[in-house]
Amino acid sequence: TFAVLGDIYIFFSSMVEESPEFWRSQAQRTLQAALDRTPNTNVAKNIVLFLGDGMGITTYTAARILKGQLQNQSGEETVTNMDTFPYVGLAKTYSVDFQIPDSAATATAYLCGVKTNLNTIGVSAAARNGVCRSQKGNEVTSILRWAKDAGKAVGIVTTTRVQHATPATSYAHSASRKWYSDADLPASARTNNCTDIASQLLSNTDIDVIIGGGRKYMTPRGTRDPEYPRDYSSRGRRKDGRHLIQEWQSLKAGKVAHYVWNKTDFDAVDPETTDYLMALFEPGDMHFDLERDPLMDPSIAETTEKAIRILSRNPNGFFLLVEGGRIDQAHHAGRGSMALHEAVALDRAVGKALELTNEEETLIVVTADHSHPLVINGYPFRGNSILGKSPLWASDMMPFTTLMYGNGPGNKMEGGKRPDIRKVDTKTSGYVQLAAVPLKSATHGGEDVVILARGPMAHLLQGVHEQSYIAHAMAYAACVGTDRRHCAARPREMNRKSTPHFFKTSGLSLKAYVYAALMILAFFQSVPLLFM
Ligand SMILES: *[C@@H]1O[C@H](CO)[C@@H](O)[C@H](O)[C@H]1NC(C)=O
Ligand SMILES: *[C@@H]1O[C@H](CO)[C@@H](O)[C@H](O)[C@H]1NC(C)=O
Ligand SMILES: *[C@@H]1O[C@H](CO)[C@@H](O)[C@H](O)[C@H]1NC(C)=O
Ligand SMILES: [Zn+2]
Repeated sequence: TFAVLGDIYIFFSSMVEESPEFWRSQAQRTLQAALDRTPNTNVAKNIVLFLGDGMGITTYTAARILKGQLQNQSGEETVTNMDTFPYVGLAKTYSVDFQIPDSAATATAYLCGVKTNLNTIGVSAAARNGVCRSQKGNEVTSILRWAKDAGKAVGIVTTTRVQHATPATSYAHSASRKWYSDADLPASARTNNCTDIASQLLSNTDIDVIIGGGRKYMTPRGTRDPEYPRDYSSRGRRKDGRHLIQEWQSLKAGKVAHYVWNKTDFDAVDPETTDYLMALFEPGDMHFDLERDPLMDPSIAETTEKAIRILSRNPNGFFLLVEGGRIDQAHHAGRGSMALHEAVALDRAVGKALELTNEEETLIVVTADHSHPLVINGYPFRGNSILGKSPLWASDMMPFTTLMYGNGPGNKMEGGKRPDIRKVDTKTSGYVQLAAVPLKSATHGGEDVVILARGPMAHLLQGVHEQSYIAHAMAYAACVGTDRRHCAARPREMNRKSTPHFFKTSGLSLKAYVYAALMILAFFQSVPLLFM
């Protein structure tokens, strides 16, 4: 019956869409919202930065359609949480040395406000990839540090290991993003006193909330993992014998500091009484959301919620970085479905943040570090599964999927022909979409990424900008870092909870409602005809 209801819904909504009045009144509501919008010039007490790793614009659109289709909607018209942000800009993502960048160089741009070289984190472009000596004196700090220095609470939430490029750039300086533990440091780096990223998690900024994966970089070599005691690859990596989790616990002695590695203990953490939280749910990266055991690991919406609730205790406000880090990894593997599901999970986390914060005092920014060579193509009918096939067949008389990649593992030519997918279910989470050029791992893509902003000074992020501008605009809004011109801004009056526009504006939208009612009547009148 659900399927029938779904079909009826789609049939009915397409009838509504045949009316010009539907589009006109929808546009009127959008127009009125834009006319009513005045820039929020408050000082941002809190900042939440959501980063979709590899969430390019095609991923953004396709994830919207998938999210709608998961709710049995047609999908194209669905409005995601991210879609509700009032201000939109674009970021140019190139690094100092590459046209198409990686997550390390881009994180240095949007977190530290300085563009740099590929593979390097928290250092300027004067430092060279992998050369420890070149790092000295070229360190640059991030907005997480600026916020902490201004007395705010700070946190990082990710679905990758917490030592991975994106979160690492908020607290570490490293000529190589790969120096996760001391065992990853080359001899030259060790003799030149460069330190690994995991140890910098403790030694640099005092971070209030740390959530993600990455246990194995924190414990001495051979230490058994509590969750996978038999798995050799999950065991501790450190050659220096340090147990960074225990060290963290003793560093926080006298405070309420919780270390947890599973969902039971995580759920038991009371944010009202917690000063510090370190939650490491996996030895390395966390599971993809579709493959996650909800009894062992929380979703990114749940980790975001816990982080916001703990950080909100600080009367000076907070800075929180939330990374949906595995959109990128799924794309590298050419797995479109998995990548989109990761983006949908991130959108749910954005929804949680919208629910838990107040637009008058919290600046929320959603962006991506870089794109991937994903295309949405063909002429699929309205409501066709975004993971499905175009009804149009190619000149080789074979179908193709709506989602495809420019390069990646999905190029599997057989005798000069591409695989025949007529009988293949392309909607499974393991399906690898066709790629034009064979590569074991798909590369990144180079087009601009979207910047969405809501809250105090969000309007600063409109337009086309260098990615490094994002850190400066957020810092200005929150009055942290070196530019303190905005600190004296007078708070604007709290917005009254505004009435939805369709009740406020009469005229056109009222007409639209009458029209919709008539359509419903017409529809039910036509039901008997349908069955004749
Ligand atoms: C969507 O429809 C399917 C069957 O067609 C049903 O199992 C599922 O519960 C529905 N989902 C929602 C969110 O309505
Ligand atoms: C590394 O640190 C040691 C001990 O602090 C010091 O003696 C040595 O000079 C340092 N080496 C370099 C290259 O900075
Ligand atoms: C969660 O971690 C705690 C602390 O190590 C442990 O006692 C508990 O058994 C774990 N729970 C599960 C379900 O593994
Ligand atoms: Zn990547």
